[in-house]
Amino acid sequence: MSSAESRPKPDHKMQLSHAAGVVQPAGSEFKEGPRTTTASEAESLLAAEKRGQGTNAHLGEWKRAEDELRQAFEKIAKSEAELRTIIDLIPQLITAVGTDGNFLYANQAVQEYTGLAKEELRLECVHPVFHPEDSERLRDERETAMWRRVPFEYERRIRRKDGQFRWFLVQYKPLLDERGEVSRWYATSTDIDDRKQAEERTRLENVALREQIDQVFMFEEIVGSSPALKSVLSSIVKVAPTDSTVLITGETGTGKELIARAIHKGSQRAAHAFISVNCAAIPSSLIASELFGHEKGAFTGALQRRQGRFELAHSGTIFLDEIGELPADTQIALLRVLQERQFERVGGTRVIPTDVRIIAATNRDLAAAITSGAFRADLFYRLNVFPIHAPPLRHRKEDIPMLVEYFVNRYAEKARKQISKIDKNTLKLCQSYPWPGNIRELQNIAERSVILCSGDTLWVDPAWLSSQKPPQPELSGALTEALRDQEKEMIETALTQTKGKVAGPNGAAARLGIPRSTLDGKIKQLKIKKYKFNSET
Ligand SMILES: Nc1ncnc2c1ncn2[C@@H]1O[C@H](COP(=O)(O)OP(=O)(O)OP(=O)(O)O)[C@@H](O)[C@H]1O
Ligand SMILES: [Mg+2]
Repeated sequence: MSSAESRPKPDHKMQLSHAAGVVQPAGSEFKEGPRTTTASEAESLLAAEKRGQGTNAHLGEWKRAEDELRQAFEKIAKSEAELRTIIDLIPQLITAVGTDGNFLYANQAVQEYTGLAKEELRLECVHPVFHPEDSERLRDERETAMWRRVPFEYERRIRRKDGQFRWFLVQYKPLLDERGEVSRWYATSTDIDDRKQAEERTRLENVALREQIDQVFMFEEIVGSSPALKSVLSSIVKVAPTDSTVLITGETGTGKELIARAIHKGSQRAAHAFISVNCAAIPSSLIASELFGHEKGAFTGALQRRQGRFELAHSGTIFLDEIGELPADTQIALLRVLQERQFERVGGTRVIPTDVRIIAATNRDLAAAITSGAFRADLFYRLNVFPIHAPPLRHRKEDIPMLVEYFVNRYAEKARKQISKIDKNTLKLCQSYPWPGNIRELQNIAERSVILCSGDTLWVDPAWLSSQKPPQPELSGALTEALRDQEKEMIETALTQTKGKVAGPNGAAARLGIPRSTLDGKIKQLKIKKYKFNSET
């Protein structure tokens, strides 16, 4: 709804006395019923009457015309009343607004919701029921849309009779006359307050969550003073204030995500979102929609339009972890974002500009992935603008005592335990161990030790460290041997067929469908005597 004016019921008597062509009130949306006597016929009868040419026959005809007109008006009035009843029963607020912004019509729901009487539905009385902030915000948008003469919609707050403002979706449609000019606007207002409240709750929760995450990472600072780590810290300080794309490499658990967060915190985007996406954790069929969002119906199961992580990260930073796992088509889309700073939602055609800083990380050897064709070289060069390598813990052993102390203090505080010393042998053990899981592994061991520690001295059981190796599949001896024999037999058959030739299109490697280097390795490992198969020629 926008503004109002109650429209008077058509005065049939008045119209009849004039008996002119005003059968239907000007601008009425209701269609008139069939007529037998036209308005101009009635008019000429009236004129004859006035000129004193009336005869009995004329008077009879005049009476008949008057009766028919009355019936026609009654019919119109009835169907109009029926339509009004229907419109009044609709729970949405329905209004008709003139081009001057005044109300021409408002249904019953408008009066019931606002508490305004019919005669109060005028621009000056209605104005206060709109939230002043929305009126200010929507003024230009509304004017422009009306000037364009096309349907439009917006969301605004309308005051209920009890004083409470509720959110409404207001949808406008123009009624055009035969010249294509707008004769009036129809507006339907639907109560969307519950949806708005839910959206606001989610927004506040997100803000709270982001603050919570920030607090955790303030606490989890990057600990260490080794030259290797100092060089990483200096890179962070240098690159953070720029908007450069950063590629962080390093083994698992070396602190790549921590580095990415530190870069975001040191940037001008710190007040905005830091969105982390683990490309390896999302099925390849869904990754594009996860990153760029999708339109409703883009694929089976896409029931709603959904924003992607790039949209969520707008003005902030997106952290693309395990970038080496991106499927080929998503690599192309990401390349486009890096080059043109824009993308399209899956199933959409609208180009969405983006202002996001990209930080990528990988524990994969991207150079090898490029050679094998799994990763695009052009994308690599776009990402590798500022590379940072997170060193493995075994290359910065001097940081180990500091890290142990840091984690032990943290977990002891959490467990409300007093741990003042670290066993000497434990420290030696920690420094000699290669930590394949890097800092994450050290952190886990520290947490476990604190939980199990009963006195004031912390100790680590050596058995926990040796058991950290990834479990090896246990094969029964008989099965391993059977597989070995079968493998040997297949290779020997291939070598017999190729007369000992390993490489080339007609070689044994091609026949077996494995790389030549792999076959060479297996021949050595299985102690196959290649020369036995050479042709006698
Ligand atoms: N220098 C450091 N000081 C303190 N804590 C650290 C440091 N480096 C890493 N950590 C902690 O170690 C854990 C692993 O770090 P992070 O998740 O950043 O590693 P990652 O390199 O991203 O690992 P992955 O490759 O497995 O994803 C985190 O809990 C992080 O807080
Ligand atoms: Mg990580």
